[in-house]
Amino acid sequence: MSTTTSLHGMWSSRLAFILAATGSAVGLGNVWRFPYTAGEYGGGAFVLVYLLCVAAIGIPIMMAEIMLGRRGRQSPINTMRALARQEGACSAWQFLGWMGIVAGFLILSFYSVIAGWTMAYVVRAGAGQFQGIDGEAAGAIFNALIADPERLLAWHTIFMVLCVLVVARGVASGLEKAVRFLMPALFVLLIVMVIYAAQTGDFAGGMAYLFKPDFAKLGAHAGEAVLSAMGQAFFSLSLGMGAIMIYGSYLNSQASIGQNTVIIAVMDTMVALLAGLAIFPIVLANGLEPGSGPGLIFQTLPIAFGQMPGGAFFGVLFFVLLVFAAWTSAISLLEPMVAWLVENLGFSRVRAATLAGVAVWLLGIACLLSLNVWSGFTLFGKGILDLFDYVTANVLLPLGGVLIAVFAGWVMQRRSSEAELGLGANAVLYRGWRLLIRYIAPAGVILVFLNAIGLL
Ligand code: TRP
Repeated sequence: MSTTTSLHGMWSSRLAFILAATGSAVGLGNVWRFPYTAGEYGGGAFVLVYLLCVAAIGIPIMMAEIMLGRRGRQSPINTMRALARQEGACSAWQFLGWMGIVAGFLILSFYSVIAGWTMAYVVRAGAGQFQGIDGEAAGAIFNALIADPERLLAWHTIFMVLCVLVVARGVASGLEKAVRFLMPALFVLLIVMVIYAAQTGDFAGGMAYLFKPDFAKLGAHAGEAVLSAMGQAFFSLSLGMGAIMIYGSYLNSQASIGQNTVIIAVMDTMVALLAGLAIFPIVLANGLEPGSGPGLIFQTLPIAFGQMPGGAFFGVLFFVLLVFAAWTSAISLLEPMVAWLVENLGFSRVRAATLAGVAVWLLGIACLLSLNVWSGFTLFGKGILDLFDYVTANVLLPLGGVLIAVFAGWVMQRRSSEAELGLGANAVLYRGWRLLIRYIAPAGVILVFLNAIGLL
């Protein structure tokens, strides 16, 4: 069972893997979800907990996920089954792969709708609709969009078609080329936005909002805030559902898993922090509400584009790059199910990608209708889209993460993980990872869960 390549193809180089995995990690989670979630929980304290979760839980689990993927070289379900057998454990571990498919399905269904908002904003920016608008006008543009199911459906459909096209072609061919220049471009443009925010917005206020932890602000909802910070770490790093696992399965056996993981996690975190630094100065300078929810970036950035010289150009560029960032993330959500369909049902990639895409598309319709026609229907006070967003990030992904940690740290034999991670000469690093994956990461997630449901 020591296959060295995957039947679905391989990354052409280590750089290709880093770009693809960073492409998966960097997406709407950084630019859309991080600012609005941080805003909902009052900023600084949330950000600090988030950073702690990335370092102590996210990084060791990402290493474990890549390691399992590379060792199994199949879709997450079959990888887990094969590795469990190899390690003499129960084949029920494949359940982890199934849970990941469900999570990926739910995430992509709403992710595609939000990506649709982003595409709609490319058009609005280009048409000069943001010229000179204030907070109220920005809010009106946003509300008009989400109140229009047909428009939302059109964009959601276009985005899903784009995803299916790339996944059908195979991950390595289309994706690698796209990510190579889009990622750096997004990064540069975010820096431009931060500079702009520094010149015209309340930059000192934004810095303080993000980096001065005020634990009192977490207040009565501290447990939930900590849970959401952890959930955001899982979501942003693409962990806990098999996306990074399957990307690991296309990685060659020599590449250093630890080094790659650190690079991916650092880039992902930098993009999130830059997005926060671009957005909160504008929020504060315009007297907007940081906790206004998923519409936050769509109600703040247009104000900036409407005021800056060349705003229509920068606005189009920014939303186009965000669409690409979302695209390179979304395909990683689709890939595990597609690989499974190819492996187990013998489908061609085209057929598998189409089938998975149509299924996600249908569920996405429920998400977009929850914004308007079905807005009266809520569960735990949330509509379908918000509910999928909340439950996947805060429950399913961390749960998947714990199972990955337990498998990698307790079920897998020490010599298996030692050999696969190849930290060999660096006994200290390996021991550090093992400590984190066996104790800190699982205990951390479980304590956060217990605390959030009030049992602690
Ligand atoms: N990490 C991506 C983002 O921040 C979203 C994403 C892609 C994802 N693949 C994932 C989230 C797998 C969870 C699991 O936008």
